[in-house]
Amino acid sequence: MSDDPTLGSTQWAQWRKAVDLDDYESRWDQMAERGENPHGEVDFVMQFSPTTALDAGCGFGRVGIELNARGVDIVGVDLDVDLLERAKRRAPSLDWRLADLATVDVGRTFDLVVVAGNVIGFVEPANRAAAVKNCARHVAPGGWLVMGNQVKPTWPTIAEIDDWCSQEGLVSVGHRSGWDGSPLGDSPDYAVTVHQRPLS
Ligand SMILES: C[S@@+](CC[C@H](N)C(=O)[O-])C[C@H]1O[C@@H](n2cnc3c(N)ncnc32)[C@H](O)[C@@H]1O
Repeated sequence: MSDDPTLGSTQWAQWRKAVDLDDYESRWDQMAERGENPHGEVDFVMQFSPTTALDAGCGFGRVGIELNARGVDIVGVDLDVDLLERAKRRAPSLDWRLADLATVDVGRTFDLVVVAGNVIGFVEPANRAAAVKNCARHVAPGGWLVMGNQVKPTWPTIAEIDDWCSQEGLVSVGHRSGWDGSPLGDSPDYAVTVHQRPLS
């Protein structure tokens, strides 16, 4: 854990120190202004037709807010107080919770738990398994856990993610190399993992 508990892991705190949050938040707005699609993650997960979703590691809420704009009832959870404040500012009526993914109990399950944008790699290494397993526990029967993470040394491997999900009763239904659904290939630098909780 970093010296400042509101900044989460040491790795996340380092990333935060190097980044101006206004610049970070404006990245996706600028993509839209350039005519690029800033909502690849949401386009991808909408194939599962969720009516409820947990945006796990929601940051300033870009994924959860877009899901909600498409009719999904969302809860956003993040450990970073500054980013969560930005989420609240962008969408004050939505349910934002300041909590650690490794331990949070939202008190309900969801059709979809989406963990977009390298969240698990930024969780303290000792807590990554707990964070993934706790996300899995929030998936309703028949629901989906979709995560996107860079593949790089010291970050969780695809096999580890599959194993942690399986320990919580989820089954892997495939891996993709990006939110456009491209096949994984032999040496991916990014992996979107999709797991489902069987109906019974
Ligand atoms: C790269 S950002 C991605 C934010 C958002 N999902 C998006 O795609 O815009 C990673 C996020 O993970 C959050 N995070 C890291 N460790 C966490 C933990 N243990 N519990 C909750 N959030 C965590 C960080 O605070 C940060 O907001």
